[in-house]
Amino acid sequence: MTQKHESRKKGCHAATVLSNVRAGECFWKMRLRFSGEAAGAFARFRPGQFIEFDTSDLAIPATESIPNALRDGARRSVLLRRPFSFSDVAVQGDATLADLLYCVVGPASLRMTTLRAGDVASLIGPLGNGFTVPAGKRTALLVVGGMGLPPIRCLARLLSTEHKDVEAIAFIGARTVASLPLEERPAAFDGGLSLSVPTFATLGVHSMVATDDGSAGHRGPVTECLARWLQENVDRDRESLIVYACGPERMLEAVAQIAAERDIDCQVSMERRMACGIGLCQSCAIECRVEDSTETVYKLCCQDGPVFDAREVVFGAETA
Ligand SMILES: Cc1cc2nc3c(=O)[nH]c(=O)nc-3n(C[C@H](O)[C@H](O)[C@H](O)COP(=O)(O)OP(=O)(O)OC[C@H]3O[C@@H](n4cnc5c(N)ncnc54)[C@H](O)[C@@H]3O)c2cc1C
Ligand code: FES
Repeated sequence: MTQKHESRKKGCHAATVLSNVRAGECFWKMRLRFSGEAAGAFARFRPGQFIEFDTSDLAIPATESIPNALRDGARRSVLLRRPFSFSDVAVQGDATLADLLYCVVGPASLRMTTLRAGDVASLIGPLGNGFTVPAGKRTALLVVGGMGLPPIRCLARLLSTEHKDVEAIAFIGARTVASLPLEERPAAFDGGLSLSVPTFATLGVHSMVATDDGSAGHRGPVTECLARWLQENVDRDRESLIVYACGPERMLEAVAQIAAERDIDCQVSMERRMACGIGLCQSCAIECRVEDSTETVYKLCCQDGPVFDAREVVFGAETA
């Protein structure tokens, strides 16, 4: 990376790459180390917040290591930074370590695969508003759809360290077992609903897996597992429950509806294409309801979100 990335602009930080490895069929895991002022800024990172990663100076991988489906677009220049969440953040001495789990889908994420241990990455953050844990909550239902895993995994870590009185249960959905963004395969893929998923089990979080094709766990949408759990635990005080979700918008809409029908609090992490990530370009608008009114307003996913109260969001109204 060039000198321009050493900039002292507010929120613009340099991070040292500690490792960057392929961790599954289509995703990679990068560990970053922040020191100095950045270590303090990222020690306060909240699950659901995000960073804008600069890939404009990174090399394009050798042609043979570019998946066929991405070869046409691989050489597109990448002027704009790209938004990413962290799947884990930990303070270690004077430094802060952060894990980025990313799916290789286009020119920016392809370039990220060329970073090696010791390289320096430029990113802006922490940005946006993350998940909150309201007082009185005793059970957190964490719903993941595919690459929606990183902020939910980060939230599971926070719950296991700072909210030990909150029991967390993860509902993890993906198209197939191969597209589950997990580093290790769950211990037993025997068609059972409840599986030991190491990335959550190490935090004491019990998991349920669902795949569209039935190659792991429940066959069908992950929302069916959530609805079934709520049905089986109908006697729980709804005020003590909270649902958190990140994934495709159709899944978020279904999760929001399930929560609304039972009057359970629900926070969703929304995704929009983001050009600036800091509230300038207006490219990430989300239609939101105004309390006690039939009117709606447009809020910015990058500044007002990406985490919203699910009751607020008008789903199916994507404008980006
Ligand atoms: C707040 C936020 C957090 C994110 N966290 C992660 C993360 O932790 N890990 C991860 O792998 N990805 C994450 N993403 C998505 C990530 O930003 C995109 O995959 C990335 O921009 C792809 O860049 P690219 O140049 O490789 O591909 P592009 O060429 O930019 O995109 C490839 C394909 O993905 C689609 N796409 C890209 N971004 C979005 C989006 N925001 N919404 C819907 N479709 C999109 C494009 O339409 C295109 O079809 C996050 C997005 C947001 C908004
Ligand atoms: S991404 Fe530019 S305003 Fe949100």
